[in-house]
Amino acid sequence: MSQRTVVITDSSTGKSIECPVLEGTCGTPVIDTKHLYRDLGLFVHDVGFASTSSCRSAITYLDGEQGILMHRGSPIEQLAKHSTFTEVAYLLIHGELPTAKQMVEWDLSIKMHTMTHEHLTRFYQGYRYDAHPMSMLAGVVGALASFYHDPTSDYRTDVDHLLTARRVIGKMPTVAARCYRYLSGLPFVYPDNQRGYVDNFMNMMFSWPTERYEPNPVAIKALDLLFILHADHEQNASTSTVRLAGSSENNPFACVAAGIATLWGKAHGGANEAVVNMLEEIADPKNVPKYVSKAKDKSNTFRLMGFGHRVYKNFDPRATIIRQACHDLLESLKLDQPLFEVALELERIALQDEYFIERKLYPNVDFYSGLIYRALRIPMTMFTVMFALARSAGWIAQWIELMEDPDFRIGRPRQLYVGAARRDYVPVAKRSS
Ligand code: CMC
Repeated sequence: MSQRTVVITDSSTGKSIECPVLEGTCGTPVIDTKHLYRDLGLFVHDVGFASTSSCRSAITYLDGEQGILMHRGSPIEQLAKHSTFTEVAYLLIHGELPTAKQMVEWDLSIKMHTMTHEHLTRFYQGYRYDAHPMSMLAGVVGALASFYHDPTSDYRTDVDHLLTARRVIGKMPTVAARCYRYLSGLPFVYPDNQRGYVDNFMNMMFSWPTERYEPNPVAIKALDLLFILHADHEQNASTSTVRLAGSSENNPFACVAAGIATLWGKAHGGANEAVVNMLEEIADPKNVPKYVSKAKDKSNTFRLMGFGHRVYKNFDPRATIIRQACHDLLESLKLDQPLFEVALELERIALQDEYFIERKLYPNVDFYSGLIYRALRIPMTMFTVMFALARSAGWIAQWIELMEDPDFRIGRPRQLYVGAARRDYVPVAKRSS
C-alpha cells in the first residue's frame, strides 16, 4: 500500500508540500510536518498543542473519545484491580510486566535508594513556616541534581538510566514526606526498608517517635490505587515539560523538578486541592445549583474544579475507578460523607446540564482523589505532592524514552510574532512623552 500523505498548498505562492501521514499502533495518525518550514517557509500554529504530536512514545496510550487509558498496552482498569504502584512503575519503565523474581529484585532495588544525602535535610530549614509543599518539593528535588551531577557525563549515553529511575522513585516518598513533617514541626522519619513502598511513605508521614505506627491496610491499598491511577498520562503539560527540559540534555532531577513546577497549577495537578476547597465552599448539596450557574457565567472566571479534560470527551476512566474507591473507602472507614454527598450532587446536576453536555465536560480523576486523600488524613496542601510522587514514575519513564530516542533533538518551538516591526532606536531626549 502506498504511503498515505497530506498535501499542504500555500494559496499565495501555489507551492505544495506532500507530508507523510504516520500511523501508530493505535489512535489518531499524525502528519509529519517537519519539512514544512524548509519547503514552504511556514510554521504550524497550534496554541495549547491541541492538534500536535510532540514525540513518538510507546509508554501510554489514551483515547479521549472512548475513555481508554493503557500503559504499555495494559488497560488501567486491569492495573487498578490487580497491580501495585511499584509494579506499574516497572511496567512503565521496562515496557513489560515483571516476573515474580524481577518484581522482588525491583522492589529491593528501589529500597536501596530511599535514603538521601544527609545534607539534603538542611534544605527544608530555608523554607518559611507556611510554604506550600509543592514549592518545597520542586526546590528539594531540584537540589538533588547537585548530589547526582557529573558535568562530564552525557545523559544519553554515559548515565545508567535504570539507576536514575530507581533513585527518583526511591527518594520521592522520603522528600515528599519531609515537606509535611517540616511544615508540621515534626521530626523527620527515616525510611524503613522493612516496609512496602506506600507503607513506608505513610510511616514517614504519620508516625511519632514515641509510638509504634502501623497504617491501616485499607488506607495503604487506597493510596496505592491513587498512585497507580496517577503514574503516567501521555504527553500532558508536566510530562511535556520534563521532556522539553530533558531535551537540553539536562540533569534528570532538574527535569523532574521542572515537571513538579508545571504540575502545581490548578488546571493540572493542583486541581485535587482546588476541588476540595470548592466542595468545602459549596458545603451543602442544596447550594450546588448556584455554583453550577457561576461556572456557566462567562463574565465569571470560576470553573468547576475537577471537571473537563483536554483529551477525555466522554469520561475519564480514572474517575470511574476512583469514584467507586472513594465510596468504598468512606464506607469501610465509617467516615462522615458530607463532602462526598456534595460531590455526588454536583456530578449529578452538572452531567444533566446542557452547558456541560455540549462541551463534553465530565468529572476527571481529581474530582474524587482529594476526597480519598482527606479520608486518609493527608493535609490539603499535600494533595498535589501525592500526585507528583506518583507521576515521577511516568516522568522518569518518559525521560528515559527521550534519552534513548534515535530522533533525539532539542525541543525548540517557534512563534507567530505579533510585536512591533523594526523601529530605530530613539535617543531619550527625542522621545515624546
Ligand atoms: N467548568 C466550567 N467550564 C469549563 C470547564 C470547567 N471546569 N472546563 C472547561 N470549560 C469550558 C470553557 O470555558 C470553554 O467554554 P467555551 O467553549 O464556551 O469557551 C470550554 O469548556 C472548553 O474549555 P477549554 O479551556 O478550551 O478546555 P481545555 O482543554 O483547554 O482545558 C482543562 C482543559 C482541564 C484545563 C479545563 O477543563 C479546566 O480548567 N478544568 C478544571 C481544572 C481541572 O479539573 N483540571 C484537572 C485536569 S485532570 C488532571 C490532570 O491531568 O492534571
